[in-house]
Amino acid sequence: MPALVVVGAQWGDEGKGKTTDILGTRVDYVVKPNGGNNAGHTVVVGGEKYELKLLPAGILSPNVTPVIGNGVVVNLEALFEEIEMLESRGADTSALRISANAHVVAPYHQTMDKVTERFLGKRAIGTTGRGIGPAYADKVSRIGIRIQDLFDESILRQKVEGALRQKNELLLKVYNRRAVEVEETVEYFLQYAERLRPMVCDTSLLLGEALDAGEVVVMEGGQATMLDVDHGTYPFVTSSNPSAGGAVIGAGIGPTRITRVIGIVKAYTTRVGAGPFPTELFDEMGVRLQKTGGEYGVNTGRPRRCGWYDAVIARYAARVNGFTDYVLTKLDVLTGIEEIPVCVAYEIDGVRHDEMPASQSDFHHAKPIFETFPGWDEDISVARSFEELPENAQNYVLALERLSGCRISVIGVGPDREQSIVRHELLD
Ligand code: GDP
Ligand code: IMO
Ligand code: MG
Repeated sequence: MPALVVVGAQWGDEGKGKTTDILGTRVDYVVKPNGGNNAGHTVVVGGEKYELKLLPAGILSPNVTPVIGNGVVVNLEALFEEIEMLESRGADTSALRISANAHVVAPYHQTMDKVTERFLGKRAIGTTGRGIGPAYADKVSRIGIRIQDLFDESILRQKVEGALRQKNELLLKVYNRRAVEVEETVEYFLQYAERLRPMVCDTSLLLGEALDAGEVVVMEGGQATMLDVDHGTYPFVTSSNPSAGGAVIGAGIGPTRITRVIGIVKAYTTRVGAGPFPTELFDEMGVRLQKTGGEYGVNTGRPRRCGWYDAVIARYAARVNGFTDYVLTKLDVLTGIEEIPVCVAYEIDGVRHDEMPASQSDFHHAKPIFETFPGWDEDISVARSFEELPENAQNYVLALERLSGCRISVIGVGPDREQSIVRHELLD
């Protein structure tokens, strides 16, 4: 009963989608346990590129049942747009299952996301503007609307009324916006109810039974450890728990069922949106990583901030997630760089820190202490075994493995499904 969790180790966009995809034909279920359409997971199959925001990458594998777990916040408009996009490209989405307990993102959540960001001014998070934070806030405040509520019109109306009573006061009196009509919102949801109905079930039961039957379940996390509302660089985080613990909550399976926790980490670091980033580059090297790595957000098109690999973060992520394996992606992007710095520790007010500082203010002042490794010029995108990598590339990977608190089992040398070097099988 293998149950694997795929978790971003940095600030997102490490290549989680590609990792799920390469797990391939032996997988039976791929679950999205957290987040919503703030994610952007890219999969390249035989040169064809697919960009998924709300659906897990498993939807591209014919024998996989894709599942949206209870921990997700679902924007129904985005859901059906994505389904239509995939169907028009020949993918079969009919197996998709959605948890009756997942919450929905309402149009007013997107409005709230935008106005609260504006009110934060210089302290804005740089959210994706998809209403994710406000939808999770309503869930925790117990005024959220769940998928199952769409099938009981009078309950739906009551809940929309409840959610809007306070929100309309805020919108009108604090944010100077127009109030949202209850009926308009109820109609918005109801237009999707019948299309949604056949997809909705108790996904916790579905996955529990699948595991009992010895089937393979992969939880493909959205976002990443450093964006986790508990373990990330709060408040510059998302509003869910993208780390491994969140995956079991968001999929509705018990922690004892997890057999592997796979961390996805880039051979350098990127971040979209605001917040601290100790190894960030502000010179032409940052621009080079951005251009060579194609570092532009899938979701919002924003350029990603780029910097060197941060082993302090990798060790931290290995610890809070309990990683059994690392998948190191985008090693090919470093080709041609003469000397590659890796952050091994921080200096904070004259003191060396080998671990993440406990205080956020300290993290904002952290200066990276670098060790530098010699680079390579050879094209590594065609390598399919560790031995085929140039010696300096091998040594770089071994150094990261030594510094990052977990073995590196797979190495990515290009965006395509085929461009991976497997050192240890993820499914055995
Ligand atoms: P996710 O959000 O973690 O799924 O990652 P994204 O899809 O947002 O960003 C990762 C990007 O890197 C995508 O464009 C992938 O196609 C690409 N990618 C993944 N692995 C590799 C790799 O090993 N090499 C290169 N060059 N690109 C990769
Ligand atoms: P994937 O799954 C990178 C960032 C946003 C912002 C912060 C909060 O593709 O790795 P939100 O809209 O979630 O309230 O924004 O989190 N963010 C991501 N950055 N990759 C993602 O997803 C992200 N999802 C959210 O840029 O800084
Ligand atoms: Mg992404």
